[in-house]
Amino acid sequence: MMPEPAPSLQQLLAFYLESGVDCALNDEPVNRMLDDEIVAPARAELRAAEPPSRLETTRPVGVQPVIPSSAAVPLVPEAAIVSAREAAATAPTLEALRALMEQFDGCALRSTATRLVFADGNPQARLMLVGEAPGREEDIEGLPFVGRSGKLLDLMLAAIGLDRSQVYIANVIPWRPPGNRTPTPQETQICLPFIRRQIELVNPAILVTLGNPSTQTLLSTRDGIMRTRGRWFDYDTGTRMIRALPTLHPAYLLRQPTYKRLAWQDLRAIATALAAIQSPAN
Ligand code: URA
Repeated sequence: MMPEPAPSLQQLLAFYLESGVDCALNDEPVNRMLDDEIVAPARAELRAAEPPSRLETTRPVGVQPVIPSSAAVPLVPEAAIVSAREAAATAPTLEALRALMEQFDGCALRSTATRLVFADGNPQARLMLVGEAPGREEDIEGLPFVGRSGKLLDLMLAAIGLDRSQVYIANVIPWRPPGNRTPTPQETQICLPFIRRQIELVNPAILVTLGNPSTQTLLSTRDGIMRTRGRWFDYDTGTRMIRALPTLHPAYLLRQPTYKRLAWQDLRAIATALAAIQSPAN
């Protein structure tokens, strides 16, 4: 049989792009299959999913299995969620929350992202907007919504007389998923306690969820964004209720500009609600 011809450089790059690889993390390639920090949790997850081995089922009661000392004690998703929840609950301020998120190693996205993308804007703002996850530009700059969709978000805010000094912006996921892939449900659940605590600490008068993933995650609805946008929800921080309005994600509006008229209706509803709130801060 004739061996397959080696792919050309163009073919290889096209394959990478199609697989979601759109930037180089380092100058030199790294064989991640030899990296224990990445491989050990994945192996442990597989082990946890396996039925107990015959040896384990015959282990006498009270005798613990021997875990090789070289095996890191990985955080399986459930443990990572509990750990995130416990950590987030201890953060008394946004600075403390940011600091503990910088250290949190229960989410694998942290190891592929360049940096944590915590927030932008004014922590005293009455309006908080939450997107899905940082993209490439956000990952480079460490700020949410600074790429193309961020520029559109700025224009949307300007249309109701606001800029970033008057709003607070964050994402459900604070680390860029590689190649901008959709975050997995586990990654979302692991990051959820952090954004929930962030919302509680900012304590805005109005919360705007940008796009479907953020809306479904934060407002616990399974309805799609075309049903939820423009409808007021109650968001329970655990200590108080906040009015929440889903709207279309600016990245979606870049792809479907005809829906900008719907976003405009939502923006007007936000402006009206803000105007109705009496606050000495503004
Ligand atoms: N899309 C998001 O949801 N968040 C960002 O920060 C950038 C793009």
